[in-house]
Amino acid sequence: MEVLDGKKVSNDIKNEIAVEVQKMKDQGEKVPHLAAVLVGNDGASLTYVGSKVRACERIGFESTLVKMPSTTSEVELLAKIKELNEDKNIDGFIVQLPLPPQIDTQKVLLAVDPDKDVDGFHPMNFGKMALDMSTFIPATPFGILELLERYNVDTKGKHTVVIGRSHIVGRPMSILMGRKGWPGNSTVTLTHSHTKNITQIISQADIVISALGVPDFLKAEMVKDDAVVIDVGITRVADDSEKGYKIVGDVDYENVSKKASYITPVPGGVGPMTIAMLLKNTLLARERHRNA
Ligand code: GUN
Repeated sequence: MEVLDGKKVSNDIKNEIAVEVQKMKDQGEKVPHLAAVLVGNDGASLTYVGSKVRACERIGFESTLVKMPSTTSEVELLAKIKELNEDKNIDGFIVQLPLPPQIDTQKVLLAVDPDKDVDGFHPMNFGKMALDMSTFIPATPFGILELLERYNVDTKGKHTVVIGRSHIVGRPMSILMGRKGWPGNSTVTLTHSHTKNITQIISQADIVISALGVPDFLKAEMVKDDAVVIDVGITRVADDSEKGYKIVGDVDYENVSKKASYITPVPGGVGPMTIAMLLKNTLLARERHRNA
């Protein structure tokens, strides 16, 4: 069994990006600038956005955090998005999800300029992804592809079972694993809450990608020997640590790792990769704007 070490790989990627940023600086060029919009004060979202902004600072990007109160109206948020779309200094931005209930998420995602949509959530970018065109790939699925690639995991002709059909992870992951090329060329089954015989389907998987958010969902007896197991779960569970919680994945790591050929830990697997790939998309956005 080999651990897919997202902490190490994400650090490698950040170092590679930092080298590119240094080159830009040496040539007197503008460095990439990422903005993040956070509406409300959801604890997990605050943590994620904080990590994204800190990562920018570490690798030499400019960053802007736009904090808006939980009472923000849809009109106010759309006005902020318009401002960011028009700000020549900003190469890419994200609107952290979930949004408060008074705001229509689809309207917000449609309002983001596709050229600055480093989350890859705009329908134009999502459509390009599905059609194998060059675009911004959503950071979490992009991070999983990068892990598979850097560990040389064979995906061709394999049966990949994706658990969960969220727009952020499961749905794009299912499309990407079935695309031509590598990582890809898999036969994909996308499972969800209405899937019948889900345990039987999972037991046939060469590659399992679990993006469910249910701690300990995936047990050793559910996966076949030598399966590749990717755990996208990040659930906060209360404990008696200083923080008051710990982060747990969907996978019973202790037992599943004894059977798997490759496995991602939580924390230290997919999570840090998400941030690294958001930075990579922002670098891409800067390069596109420079060459436009
Ligand atoms: N909420 C959970 N994951 C993500 C993500 O990748 N991007 C944004 N914008 N919000 C999220």
